[in-house]
Amino acid sequence: MATRFIFVASLFLIYLDCCSGSFIGVCYGRNADDLPTPDKVAQLVQLHKIKYLRIYDSNIQVLKAFANTGVELMVGIPNSDLIPFSQFQSNADTWLKNSILPYYPATKIAYITVGAEVTESQNNASSFVVPAMTNVLTALKKVGLHKKIKVSSTHSLGVMSRSFPPSAGAFNSSHAHFLKPMLEFLAENQSPFMIDIYPYYAYRDSPNKVSLDYAIFESSSEVIDPNTGLLYTNMFDSQIDAIYFALSALNFRTIKVMVTETGWPSKGSPKETAATPDNAQTYNTNLIRHVINNTGTPAKPGEELDVYVFSLFNENRKPGLESERNWGLFYPDQTSVYNLDFTGRGALDMTTGGNVTKSNGTSWCIASSKASQIDLQNAVDWACGSGNVDCTAIQPSQPCFEPDNLVSHASYAFNSYYQQNGASDIACSFGGTGVKVDKDPSMFITTHHQLFHTYLYCMLILACTYVSMLEMPFSSLFVKCELKELIKSINIAVAETAIDSIMTRNVVVFALRSLNGGCCFSYSLFIQVNDISE
Ligand SMILES: *[C@@H]1O[C@H](CO)[C@@H](O)[C@H](O)[C@H]1NC(C)=O
Ligand SMILES: *[C@@H]1O[C@H](CO)[C@@H](O)[C@H](O)[C@H]1NC(C)=O
Ligand SMILES: *[C@@H]1O[C@H](CO)[C@@H](O)[C@H](O)[C@H]1NC(C)=O
Ligand SMILES: *[C@@H]1O[C@H](CO)[C@@H](O)[C@H](O)[C@H]1NC(C)=O
Ligand SMILES: *[C@@H]1O[C@H](CO)[C@@H](O)[C@H](O)[C@H]1NC(C)=O
Repeated sequence: MATRFIFVASLFLIYLDCCSGSFIGVCYGRNADDLPTPDKVAQLVQLHKIKYLRIYDSNIQVLKAFANTGVELMVGIPNSDLIPFSQFQSNADTWLKNSILPYYPATKIAYITVGAEVTESQNNASSFVVPAMTNVLTALKKVGLHKKIKVSSTHSLGVMSRSFPPSAGAFNSSHAHFLKPMLEFLAENQSPFMIDIYPYYAYRDSPNKVSLDYAIFESSSEVIDPNTGLLYTNMFDSQIDAIYFALSALNFRTIKVMVTETGWPSKGSPKETAATPDNAQTYNTNLIRHVINNTGTPAKPGEELDVYVFSLFNENRKPGLESERNWGLFYPDQTSVYNLDFTGRGALDMTTGGNVTKSNGTSWCIASSKASQIDLQNAVDWACGSGNVDCTAIQPSQPCFEPDNLVSHASYAFNSYYQQNGASDIACSFGGTGVKVDKDPSMFITTHHQLFHTYLYCMLILACTYVSMLEMPFSSLFVKCELKELIKSINIAVAETAIDSIMTRNVVVFALRSLNGGCCFSYSLFIQVNDISE
């Protein structure tokens, strides 16, 4: 049965906050002797659309491999280097000059972690961490990069003396000697407080006190914080909020929290019964949805929270229990340990907003296929010139350049002019080369699947292009846009999810979020679908 659809849509861009939106990254630990070369890893990472990567050193092969990939790196200075970095400014300067600057900015670097979990370190690293951070910052300032590359240091939850209930979260006062100057440093330089969080260990070590469901974001009940009344459905949020409360108790209210490690092992020793591929997949899938959705935590709803999943590969050289070597998302041969979608597929909130807005965008103006090339060209020149139409999108390499023919370009320009000028008949004249269509845009339709994809993508491209316009009339011409640009930055899964809904409902409401790619905003897209099959 050939059902045809008209897509009547209005597109609203809800401008939330430029460039905010939480991201998911992955830790690329290399404590193994069987891993692929960094070049291969760079391909793997891109293939899986991983955009943020934490490494634990500044290995040159790795930095080179990620040049021009768009992947943003967090690089590290290991604890063993804290003493030299803290002692002499010149050590930090030299490192920056030799290990970072030759590869930057071809390789994107946004953070330097100076030391890692110093409270767990045996060699008194905590005494040197802040002086080392200060020297690294000074080195960055000398080359003018201190605003682009942030300096911080990671912590384990061992930095806390109390994390439950979250409102009673407090740092262990025996760490005050380095923690106080560090927090001052972070606040002053707008650097995040970095924490490694492992609900896995909390569950493994106290399975009677902690439920597995609570640890892996599957709990149907809530834990209430008696002091604040806040309800917690998972341990991750509870631990993050404990940190916010601990920071707040010391009057550091502006410091943001960043999770530099979290994850779940897929295999463990016989006693580690929770270390299974299923639990690992559940934890990480739920984590990604939670983060991408910008849910925030009960104490900080909607707050940006960037999270790195530990770890890219299983690392066979890590000492300790079996689970230690099985945190990876991938085996060294680059096959997946379990499926994981970094785009947070399926996490879309289909009910946001609610009301489909009634828009009148039901008529369009396109170029007549009978018009002569010269007339069309003149009309396009006029529309894009005196007509004040922004014709950027039909320029080479722009989203609506393809298909590269005059009728398509003219249609784009005509319709833009028409919509901008009240959609009156006169606004679609163009010396007789414009044609108003309002009844049967389905003449463009090939199949509704294809159409829908195309429409969605093209609208999003235009959303990116016309971020300043709050309301975009919808045009059948968008069918002709090609998709190349957008696919890089938008979660394709969105379109597929949407299609399922279209089949069953007349009205679909989506919430879409760009994944920090080309479009630095969050927005909702409201689409009304009218079935016009006779
Ligand atoms: C760590 O370093 C600090 C400052 O150098 C020193 O006062 C302290 O005694 C050292 N602690 C240990 C356990 O070495
Ligand atoms: C605080 O840290 C000290 C030194 O690391 C440790 O001995 C003590 O047990 C910690 N206190 C708490 C409550 O965790
Ligand atoms: C996404 O966030 C909204 C509120 O912002 C929440 O109601 C919804 O449950 C979240 N979805 C998921 C999958 O976490
Ligand atoms: C949708 O519109 C109806 C009627 O105008 C209104 O009562 C309702 O609150 C709206 N819902 C939302 C989510 O805006
Ligand atoms: C918009 O809708 C109203 C009422 O349905 C109608 O009178 C008007 O002509 C429409 N405008 C356009 C441009 O289609």
